[in-house]
Amino acid sequence: MNVTHSSSSNEYDLIIIGAGISGINSAYRIQEQLPSTTYAILEGRTGPGGTWDLFRYPGIRSDSDLYTFGFPWAPWTKPNPIADGASIREYLKDSAAAHGIDRHFHFQHKVISMNWLSDEQTWRLEVDVNGEKKYFYGRFVILGTGYYNYQQPLPAVIPGLENFKGTVVHPQFWPEDLDYTDKKMVVIGSGATAITLLPSLAEKASRVTMLQRSPSYVMSVPQESDTWAHRWLPSWLLLKLTRIQFLIISYMFFNFCRTFPNAAKWVLRSATVKQLPANIPHDPHFKPTYNPWEQRLCFCPDGDFFKCFHNGKADVATGHVKTVTEDGILLESGQKLDADIIVTATGLNIQIAGGIEISVDGSPIHFPDKFLWRFSMLQDVPNCGVIIGYTNSSWTLAADATAVLLGRLMNYMKTNKITSAVPRLEHPEQMKSAPALNLNSTYIKAARDKLPKTGDSGPWLTRQNYFKDYWNGRYANITTGLEFSRVST
Ligand SMILES: Cc1cc2nc3c(=O)[nH]c(=O)nc-3n(C[C@H](O)[C@H](O)[C@H](O)COP(=O)(O)OP(=O)(O)OC[C@H]3O[C@@H](n4cnc5c(N)ncnc54)[C@H](O)[C@@H]3O)c2cc1C
Ligand SMILES: *[C@@H]1O[C@H](CO)[C@@H](O)[C@H](O)[C@H]1NC(C)=O
Ligand SMILES: *[C@@H]1O[C@H](CO)[C@@H](O)[C@H](O)[C@H]1NC(C)=O
Ligand SMILES: *[C@@H]1O[C@H](CO)[C@@H](O)[C@H](O)[C@H]1NC(C)=O
Repeated sequence: MNVTHSSSSNEYDLIIIGAGISGINSAYRIQEQLPSTTYAILEGRTGPGGTWDLFRYPGIRSDSDLYTFGFPWAPWTKPNPIADGASIREYLKDSAAAHGIDRHFHFQHKVISMNWLSDEQTWRLEVDVNGEKKYFYGRFVILGTGYYNYQQPLPAVIPGLENFKGTVVHPQFWPEDLDYTDKKMVVIGSGATAITLLPSLAEKASRVTMLQRSPSYVMSVPQESDTWAHRWLPSWLLLKLTRIQFLIISYMFFNFCRTFPNAAKWVLRSATVKQLPANIPHDPHFKPTYNPWEQRLCFCPDGDFFKCFHNGKADVATGHVKTVTEDGILLESGQKLDADIIVTATGLNIQIAGGIEISVDGSPIHFPDKFLWRFSMLQDVPNCGVIIGYTNSSWTLAADATAVLLGRLMNYMKTNKITSAVPRLEHPEQMKSAPALNLNSTYIKAARDKLPKTGDSGPWLTRQNYFKDYWNGRYANITTGLEFSRVST
């Protein structure tokens, strides 16, 4: 046993960066497939949970069902498919603790850069530990760093915002002591965050207006599920069935939207009109200019978003900001929205690899030049897994396919005494490329030049659908497209 030695000198078989869903899940898969692996999870924050630790705005919740957003190895047992942020945070913490994963957490360890040392066949990570620089060494690294910048959201370009005398809040940094009782509020944005915030803020504020440049599709999903099945089926079977049910329904719904956009529009329109009060017209406020699921579709539990329009405290405005004034927002249409507080729910600032500078023997890696091998590793970067989940269904489903694949690869390397595995593409110029995230949302479009690429053949293919990706994770060839070396160090 050289475990004590390893951990005291900061040398590990594996270093996982990030203690969110992806990091915790990767740790589980590695423990399961390679129980003797020594590993550390380096996390910049003071606790686990990632997104669910960072975001604290009122009403914060998932918009995926937890049966598929939760871990397959720790089924979500509550009856509500959509859960609030605090419950998800607790669930992640408890799931990690139940498998001893929490013993590997190193909080306030922010990774600044990592450099692959060919001579030593190892990564050297430069880590900021509470302002002090330390080095960690790992034979393999998994980036569970999420997909956006934690420090800087997408800058909100709102003309005249500097004139405003009230409070401006960004959902990514919601002040927990912000008192908005009886305040007039304007939420700028139309994405999942704005849609979550509105009903929640309307409970205490005197008035909340959602100001959007263009609308999104919003769909109500029922919360409690009490059917005959819940009373008669054993719970292990019920949990499996519920998961499969949610998998299939969301898969079918996505494909329905993409294949029959007009029918999908009609379905969403009818459902929306039925839930709106008479004074809020469907057109223009709920009539997006794109087809369903070209951008991430927003869900709301039991129609809470629509319900809040009925008591007169919430409303919606669609238009462009002419200028922000001292006490509100003037639209180009001439409409004036009074505000004590402006919330800029304008989106995430996409970032891959948590801002870590990655280099191989001192040469920096520029992501947009690189293809993704099986959506799990970067071309020309040895022993480094990248976890990128789905943007059009539960993140975890795809994140798990990658974790399983990386576990298999590490196992194969161990058995065959391979010290490094590098994705190599002989003729990258012949590969047709597309950016790694394929939704048209503004924040994803803004990030095109930061993302790695995916190709159109072999192991360079983009993500497919859950069923294929699951299969790939478990069975796809893990040698095609990889160059292996055995170097004794
Ligand atoms: C408000 C909100 C709601 C969402 N709702 C859903 C949903 O319902 N369904 C869904 O599928 N997806 C949702 N998402 C996307 C969501 O981010 C992912 O589903 C999931 O939480 C990602 O998990 P992760 O572990 O990959 O990344 P994150 O949760 O982002 O965690 C990454 C972790 O890595 C750490 N880290 C990053 N860089 C470094 C570094 N350099 N050094 C050390 N540590 C680092 C971070 O501190 C963080 O803890 C939502 C996102 C947001 C912002
Ligand atoms: C997600 O998008 C991909 C590509 O557009 C599609 O093939 C897949 O079916 C979608 N998945 C789900 C679950 O909606
Ligand atoms: C994005 O929009 C373009 C044109 O506006 C369209 O051709 C393309 O199919 C869209 N992509 C997705 C993934 O919806
Ligand atoms: C994987 O593909 C390679 C060729 O790229 C082949 O030689 C090898 O046999 C395949 N492995 C398996 C397990 O099928």
